[in-house]
Amino acid sequence: MKALLVPKERAETLRKQLLEAGYMDSRRKLKVRGNDLEIPVTGSVPPEFAQFPGIRQENPEYYENEPVFRDLMKQYLGGDEMDLLPRGWQILGDVVIVSLHPDLYPVRSTLGDALLTMYPYCKSVYLDGGIVGELRRPSRELIAARDGMDNPALAVHTENGCRFKLDVTKVMFSKGNLNERMRMGKLGSGEVVVDMFAGIGYFTIHMAAHARPARIIAIELNPESHHYLIENTRLNRVEDIVEPILGDCAEKTPVAVADRVVMGYVGSTHHYLPYGIGALKPGGVLHYHETVPEILMPDRPVERIRTEAKRQGRKAEILQWHRVKKYAPGVWHIVVDARIN
Ligand SMILES: C[S@@+](CC[C@H](N)C(=O)[O-])C[C@H]1O[C@@H](n2cnc3c(N)ncnc32)[C@H](O)[C@@H]1O
Repeated sequence: MKALLVPKERAETLRKQLLEAGYMDSRRKLKVRGNDLEIPVTGSVPPEFAQFPGIRQENPEYYENEPVFRDLMKQYLGGDEMDLLPRGWQILGDVVIVSLHPDLYPVRSTLGDALLTMYPYCKSVYLDGGIVGELRRPSRELIAARDGMDNPALAVHTENGCRFKLDVTKVMFSKGNLNERMRMGKLGSGEVVVDMFAGIGYFTIHMAAHARPARIIAIELNPESHHYLIENTRLNRVEDIVEPILGDCAEKTPVAVADRVVMGYVGSTHHYLPYGIGALKPGGVLHYHETVPEILMPDRPVERIRTEAKRQGRKAEILQWHRVKKYAPGVWHIVVDARIN
């Protein structure tokens, strides 16, 4: 069983980050090892935590959960099916979201009840069917809920001191983007920022709440996401900073007003580069996201930024790039930061 070896003094911060990012294996206990602590992790060491050594725990110690989950399910499943049991799930506010191997679909409601037993503070469990389409909508099925729940899909998720209200059947919330959201929370102080793919405020709320820009123009095409963007602006008391705009960023992105532009989209972000670069004042910074095959990383997005800047008679200075998360086999979601002069 894998764990991350971290210095004691940093353990609490890292534990919280790993937990919120969904990387932590909360079935196993943290263990002391000399001046360090072993923090159990679900899969391979996430890239953004690569500075800490990954180790194999000799004698992992479990909280009561794991056995409970397996115990709860073993009366319904044979041996092979037990091996298909999910090892991790996402908890948004008081809603559990779990992906299941298709062979377990017949027992999905029983499995949902088991998760509600394990998380007494949760009200419902949804089966995750992935995120689809231009508006990145999730496909979710309710598989378990406590009696009398008027809206089992409505969640208020807290991370990094920010609150996000959302309907888990209508809008996505990517656990893999947590560190990037927190990074955005450190940028933009006093600036004019344009968030071209704002969603429910994934980046905008972190920025507004922590960095306090002068103004964030947050554009979102999906009326359901835009509705929660407005809700989350109120919930985090940043109405004085955030200007939620419903519409297509190809039409709504202003020209030459921004010190910083965030293009937090995947798949076809490059189609919107002309508007992203056009929105920046000379010397402004672009955060350009792209899903890119490993062999083209980071050259393809870097070349696209340089080419579009040149086409607009400007010069792109690449500041840095990094991986945000694994997107698919051989494909990474990365972000490139560039200053556009
Ligand atoms: C994937 S989400 C944002 C994810 C976010 N960056 C994160 O870290 O979790 C992208 C959002 O862009 C919105 N969107 C897609 N095309 C758009 C467009 N042309 N203009 C404005 N918003 C758009 C989608 O509706 C969706 O809410």
